[in-house]
Amino acid sequence: MSARRLLGMHALVTGGAGFIGSHIVDALLARGDTVTVVDNLSSGRTSRLPGPGKVDVEVIDITDAAAVSAVVARTRPDVIFHLAAQIDVRASVDDPARDAAINIGGTINLLTAALPVGAKLVFASTGGALYGTEAPVPSDEQVPPAPEAPYGTAKQCVEHYLDLFNRLHSTRHTALRLGNVFGPRQDPAGEAGVIAIFSGRIHQSQQPTIFGDGFQTRDYVYVGDVVAAFLAAAAHTAGGVWNIGAGQETSVLDLVKYIGQAAGRDVTPLFAPARPGEMQRSALNADAARRDLGWRATTPIEEGIARVYAWVRDGQPERAHP
Ligand SMILES: NC(=O)c1ccc[n+]([C@@H]2O[C@H](COP(=O)([O-])OP(=O)(O)OC[C@H]3O[C@@H](n4cnc5c(N)ncnc54)[C@H](O)[C@@H]3O)[C@@H](O)[C@H]2O)c1
Repeated sequence: MSARRLLGMHALVTGGAGFIGSHIVDALLARGDTVTVVDNLSSGRTSRLPGPGKVDVEVIDITDAAAVSAVVARTRPDVIFHLAAQIDVRASVDDPARDAAINIGGTINLLTAALPVGAKLVFASTGGALYGTEAPVPSDEQVPPAPEAPYGTAKQCVEHYLDLFNRLHSTRHTALRLGNVFGPRQDPAGEAGVIAIFSGRIHQSQQPTIFGDGFQTRDYVYVGDVVAAFLAAAAHTAGGVWNIGAGQETSVLDLVKYIGQAAGRDVTPLFAPARPGEMQRSALNADAARRDLGWRATTPIEEGIARVYAWVRDGQPERAHP
């Protein structure tokens, strides 16, 4: 056994220079694991990562099968946290082939590379973009997926591949269906980017613009809780699919209220026409994760939003922690 195995596990984090991935990297390093980041830096930034010598950064595109295979064979990770993705739902509608090439093809490259080294893959799937408009709220994992865009369809397809590999090769690959993740370091373009966008406007004493009536709800889950879910899933003996959410609906109007509280003033939003096709309600039932992984979201939304507001007020430092 190598020295590094005695100290902790070796993890490969794809998308490790991104919002959620960089927080996972920090948590792994903090507990003594060694980490390789695979990222093409298309939206990720190495400035989100600890300084040189602390983490091995490989600038690789996951659609490059040979490069993926080489880095996995060389670093022999115990676990692959797979977060690299094309994350823009609207871009997936405009160019489904590109979305599929990255989100499906790239994942197949990782699954293939992981097989000979026996690495477990923990995949960042989506809860918010997977269950359809007719789904009961909150949705549990038994609700049949009915995605509304190629992004969600690609995530669903990957979940089928994970299941296939688990059945054919006795692997323990896992998918976590994430709610709308928010926290410091988040890119405003992401699924929960509205919190960072509104925080920025309110900090600059501008009115945030709500599309629609503001009663539309999402399951906002704090990034520190999501990191804990990834670590719990990696340690779990079995593979599977779990919802990772706070289990509660929060409306856009609630968000404005909580950000106003963090800023210490009342905020009056502007209203614009609803975006066509936008889902009215969404929340995840995460009881299975609580039962099987011993995980639940513990950060109250007001507290998480106060931390994002403080991060925006402080100029959005790249190395801000949850
Ligand atoms: N943020 C959310 O609310 C949310 C919700 C559900 C699921 N997810 C999933 O979680 C994962 C991480 O999301 P995030 O919000 O941290 O996004 P992010 O954009 O901050 O991170 C994605 C990272 O992947 C990298 N990347 C993109 N394409 C790549 C490629 N072809 N090869 C290598 N690297 C590539 C980017 O440079 C970036 O660093 C994604 O898979 C996303 O679909 C996020």
